[in-house]
Formats: sequence, structure tokens, C-alpha cells
Amino acid sequence: MGATSERKTEHIRLCLEEQVNGTGISTGLEKYAFRHNALPDLNFNDIRLNTEFLNIDVRTPLLISSMTGGSELAGTINERLAEAAERRGWAMGVGSGRAAVEKKELAPTFAVRRYAPSIPIIANVGAVQLNYGFGVEECMRVAEIAGANMLVLHLNSLQEVFQPEGDTAFAGLLARIEDVCRTLPIPVGVKEVGWGIDGETARQLHEAGVAFIDVAGAGGTSWSQVEKFRNKDHVRRAVAEAFADWGNPTAECIVDVRSKIPGAAIIGSGGLNTGVDAAKALALGQIWLGSAVPC
Ligand SMILES: Cc1cc2nc3c(=O)[nH]c(=O)nc-3n(C[C@H](O)[C@H](O)[C@H](O)COP(=O)(O)O)c2cc1C
Repeated sequence: MGATSERKTEHIRLCLEEQVNGTGISTGLEKYAFRHNALPDLNFNDIRLNTEFLNIDVRTPLLISSMTGGSELAGTINERLAEAAERRGWAMGVGSGRAAVEKKELAPTFAVRRYAPSIPIIANVGAVQLNYGFGVEECMRVAEIAGANMLVLHLNSLQEVFQPEGDTAFAGLLARIEDVCRTLPIPVGVKEVGWGIDGETARQLHEAGVAFIDVAGAGGTSWSQVEKFRNKDHVRRAVAEAFADWGNPTAECIVDVRSKIPGAAIIGSGGLNTGVDAAKALALGQIWLGSAVPC
């Protein structure tokens, strides 16, 4: 299927087989603890998680973070994730859809709506591609292929720097993001990929018309670690390793972003491993929850 497909499959393999979490950094959620209530005035069986996200009713405030598509293995994973998300009432993101636009034969690996007819599905494009010829038309095509209700643009500057084939021209992106937000007929969000979005950046994006922010903070998967394993050059590997503790921890991002854009839709993700992590993130920011790792 070509170089793109090989890269997608290699990313999956590395995330499954290697230690790709950041080291020397955490989500910051461990600094928070709930005060135990010995006399809860509720029946546990009455607890309901249903809510709405951007006016779509959902059974839970949970989201499978954008991950994959673009190879046969990625297509199988997307199919299974979509079926699980539909059964459980989670929202689902698919991985960057650029490959599907550039190579039509890869489009079916992103086409998850057939497996998940009712849940919110979020298509995904690297924001930097807006500086490399991707425009509103291509973004819409990516959303149509996935059958998505919304699109999320990912900010992954550091990952692009570490990829031998990376696209590193990030200047002037805010105006292009604004253009996509104002023109696309579906809501457009912005996410990071594991180094976090701070409050000031979130405020700028919100003013540019971004419909939701997924903080995708540090403390879980680190893409400098993933790219370190891909790189054969020992100097580049050492440089990537030096960034193992880089990023804004997820808890800090949630608190900061919520304080700067109080009314906005926020997704808290990055390193969430357990239901207690999820509950802390919810309590910190009245947010939605995303994870690229199974809880
Ligand atoms: C195998 C894999 C592929 C990913 N591909 C994408 C992608 O195409 N687009 C994107 O926005 N994020 C991508 N991500 C990043 C995740 O959406 C998420 O932001 C990041 O992994 C941090 O969350 P975690 O600590 O729960 O893994 C990918 C993550 C994984 C593990």
C-alpha cells in the first residue's frame, strides 16, 4: 500500500510493543484526590452518564481519541473500535485522513460510519497540512469519507520535527484554522497529540471559531518517544529521547483551558488510564474525556 501505509502500521506496532509513554512526566492528576463521602445521598444504580456533545445526545461523555486509518491493519482496528464505541455509546475519532484524500484506495480504512450509525464520529486532519495545500474542500472530503459529524485539526509540531518526512512549516496557521472554522459546514475542533494545549492558545483558537478544544496533554503517549524508535540515526534518537519529559501535563491543561474559556466545550485527554483518572479530569474541568489507550 506504500510508504504512508507502512508508517501507519509502524506507529501502531511501536505503540503496542515499545515503551512510548513520556518519562519523568505525569498527567498531574495524581496531585488531586477526592474527599471520600461516607454518607452519599444517592443510589448507585441510579447513576447515569448520558449527556450531549455539541448538541448531539450521547450515552457517555467518553471519546476514543483519534488514532488510525490508512493501512489494512488500521482499517481493521477502526472497524473494531467503531463497533465497540457504538455498543457502548462512546464518541469516536479516526486518525489523520490526509492519506484517504491523497490515495483513494485507502479511504475505506477510515469509513467507520457503517459500523457506528448513531454515535458522534470525528474526522481528523493535521492542522499543518493547511500550509501544504490542504483547504476547506479536502477537509470536507476527509469528514465525508469517515461519515463524521465534526472535524478535529491536530497540532503536532514536535512530532513533525522528529519525523524524517515531517512537515514543519507551522507559521501563520491560526488564520488558516479560522478560515476552515468559518467555512466548513460542520463543527471544527483542535487537539494536540500528547504535549498539551495551554489556556492562552485555547483562547486564541476559541476566538478563531474553534468549536471544541481537546487538550491531549502530557503524561501518556509521547510522540517524540514513538519517533525515537522509528529513527535509525543514533544522534536523532538521542535528540528525541531528550524530549521524553516534554509537554504540558493533562491536569494543568484542563485547569488552564477551563479558566481561559469558561463556557467552551473541552475534551480532557492524554494519559488517562483509569476511571478514577477520568473522574478527576471531569471534576477539574466539566469536560469530556478522551483516551487513546484502553481504560
Ligand atoms: C497509534 C496512535 C496513532 C495516533 N494517530 C493520531 C492521528 O492520526 N491524529 C491525531 O490527532 N492524534 C493521533 N494520535 C494521538 C492521540 O489521539 C492522543 O492525543 C495521544 O495519544 C495522547 O493520548 P494518550 O496519552 O491517551 O495516548 C495517535 C495515537 C496513537 C496511540
